[in-house]
Amino acid sequence: MSMDQQTAGRQQSTKSASAPAAIDAKSICKKFGDIEALEDVTLSIARGKVYSLLGPNGAGKTTFIKILTTLLKPDAGTAAVGGFDVVRQPERVREIIGLAGQYAAVDENLTGRENLEMVGRLYHIGRKRSRELTTEILERLELTEAADRRSKTYSGGMRRRLDLGASFITSPEILFLDEPTTGLDPYGRSELWGVIRELVKGGTTLLLTTQDLEEAEELADVIAIIDRGRIIAEGTGSELKDKIGGSVLEYRLRSVQDLEPAVAATGGLYDGEPSVEPAILRVSGKVEHSSDALIEVVRRLDQRQIDIADIRLRRPSLNEVFLTLTHKDRNR
Ligand SMILES: Nc1ncnc2c1ncn2[C@@H]1O[C@H](COP(=O)(O)OP(=O)(O)O)[C@@H](O)[C@H]1O
Ligand SMILES: [Mg+2]
Repeated sequence: MSMDQQTAGRQQSTKSASAPAAIDAKSICKKFGDIEALEDVTLSIARGKVYSLLGPNGAGKTTFIKILTTLLKPDAGTAAVGGFDVVRQPERVREIIGLAGQYAAVDENLTGRENLEMVGRLYHIGRKRSRELTTEILERLELTEAADRRSKTYSGGMRRRLDLGASFITSPEILFLDEPTTGLDPYGRSELWGVIRELVKGGTTLLLTTQDLEEAEELADVIAIIDRGRIIAEGTGSELKDKIGGSVLEYRLRSVQDLEPAVAATGGLYDGEPSVEPAILRVSGKVEHSSDALIEVVRRLDQRQIDIADIRLRRPSLNEVFLTLTHKDRNR
């Protein structure tokens, strides 16, 4: 592929147009019957980066991961992983990748240690080396204490960690994690985040899918928002927030009977309908001319003798960005 083609891709956020990308997908399309699971997906991931594909259920995340990991062929488009073409050189791709899915693939009747050693043998790593690696990975995953217990006794979080360990035993250059924390409780989730951070410290490129904005923001250098098979925005968390522009003006009231008149008085100042949270007496929404709007809200509420508990201007949250962008996309 020519350099021109490369730089024409989505490389602005990765700032490494000269280094070959770890993952380079161009115009990937995939249909299942009438369903367009992926529609012209183009993205490029620089080596050593953590890239998150963020989208709701059914957006096409797993389909994309399957194509990049050679489990599924695209209908159109090309993808290179570590410089190898996923359709023409699938064996080469498989040698340099690791994959852990939404459903942990551990053998419940084996202990944690046995599970990892078995994967090592499957990949012909050699008995001694497999043992060493297993011990090291169990340590990194904080599973040393549970290592010799059958994994059927493990919690959901521990199984995911073990599955992650299995994907890591070959020391892959490029690691794919498909919704690694979906279904875990908040504790298990943040624990897994710690492990993922630890694993990628060594320079592994990571492509992670998630439905969870906080997860994407926590772990990823670059986030792409995918909806109905198309990438609708890409950038760092901060760039995505800038993308929808404007500020959010939010205020809280002191008394519940003020809520309705306050919304009636200030609603017109917002860009679209403000969101109202009755439980915490909060009104918030996007505004164009933020300081004018702020002054005007205070003036109008004051005029009606409505008490404000607090009022502020802030940047939109990633959640608001996500909702705005996916909503625009649906109205297309
Ligand atoms: N094997 C399949 N056969 C038919 N439809 C499929 C198949 N795999 C995925 N789909 C459909 O493709 C779309 C994308 O699915 P998927 O990639 O699993 O999304 P995600 O992982 O983001 O939840 C969905 O509408 C899904 O129902
Ligand atoms: Mg999926």
